[in-house]
Amino acid sequence: MIRLRGVSYAYPDTANYVLADLDLSVGQGEVVGVVGASGAGKTTLAKIIAGFIPSIEGGVLSGDIDVNGVAISSLTLSEAVAQVGLVIQNPFNQISGAKFTVLEEIAFGLENTGVPREEIAERVQAVAKQLRVDHLLDRSPYALSGGQMQLVAIASMVVMRTPVLVMDEPTSQLDPGGSRMVFDIISQLTDLGTTVLIFEHKIELLREHADRVAVLADGRITAEGAPRAILSDPRLEKWAIGTTRYTRAGLAARDTGLAPVTGELPVSMPDAVEFFGPSGKH
Ligand SMILES: Nc1ncnc2c1ncn2[C@@H]1O[C@H](COP(=O)(O)OP(=O)(O)OP(=O)(O)O)[C@@H](O)[C@H]1O
Ligand SMILES: [Mg+2]
Repeated sequence: MIRLRGVSYAYPDTANYVLADLDLSVGQGEVVGVVGASGAGKTTLAKIIAGFIPSIEGGVLSGDIDVNGVAISSLTLSEAVAQVGLVIQNPFNQISGAKFTVLEEIAFGLENTGVPREEIAERVQAVAKQLRVDHLLDRSPYALSGGQMQLVAIASMVVMRTPVLVMDEPTSQLDPGGSRMVFDIISQLTDLGTTVLIFEHKIELLREHADRVAVLADGRITAEGAPRAILSDPRLEKWAIGTTRYTRAGLAARDTGLAPVTGELPVSMPDAVEFFGPSGKH
C-alpha cells in the first residue's frame, strides 16, 4: 500500500512548490487513478513515491511517504526499486540502453535480484505473452514503434512483481485496444494483491477500471472518491482536465430541463445509456 501525508516538494533552484501538503492513500490490491492537467505534478509525484525524488533529482521534500508501512526515505534506491516499480512517462527513457534485444531488456531488472536463470526466462516469456510483445523478443528495443516500446517498458516493470506499481501515463502511445489490454493486466495484478497507482488521461478507461480516482490540482488532491462521481465532476473543466462528451451531454440535458438535477452524471457510454435510455432511471 501507499500512504502519503502532508507531502510538499520544490525542485532544486526553484521557489515554487509543485506539491503542497498532499495527502493520498492507496490500499493493497487497489487501483487508484490520478488525473491532473499538464504540469500539475503527476510525474513529480510518481518519482517521489518511487524514491527517485529527492535521491536522484534533489530538491526540498517534506511529509511522510510510506510504502507497505516503511518510509521510502529509509530505503536505499535498490531497496526502493524492489518495492515500487515505476513505469515512466516516456517509454524511450525506460529502455536501459544496455541491452541488444527486447528479451534481454525485459530480463534486465531481474538479473540483479538473484532470481535463477530458468525462472527469469519463464517469467520474461510469460509477461511478453501477456503484453503481446512475444513476437518482438529478438528485436532491438530501439527498432520498435512507440506503442511497442511502451508495452516493453510496462513488461520490464510487471516482470519484477513489485508489491507496488506506479504507472505514469502508461497508455499514451497505445491505441484503444492496447490501452484496454494494459488495464486488463492491471486488474489481473491487483487480483493477486499488487497495489497500483496510475496517472492517466483516458477518463473513460479510469471510469471502468479504477477502484478510486483522485484529482491532482494546485499541488494537492482536490477531490477523491468513486470513479463515476469524480470523473463527472464539472470542476474537472476548471482544473483543466476536462470531462467526457457524455458528461457534457448530461450537463446540457440538465441545463435544458431534460434530465433531473440530482443523481450522477454519465462518464462513459454505458453510463449514458443508463442516464438517457428509455429503460434508465430518468
Ligand atoms: N527538473 C525540474 N526542475 C524544475 N521544475 C520542474 C522539473 N521537472 C518538472 N518541473 C515543473 O514541475 C511542474 C510539474 O511537472 P510534472 O512533470 O510533474 O507535471 P505532469 O503533471 O507530469 O505534466 P504532464 O501531464 O505534462 O506530464 C511543472 O511546472 C514543471 O515545469
Ligand atoms: Mg508527467
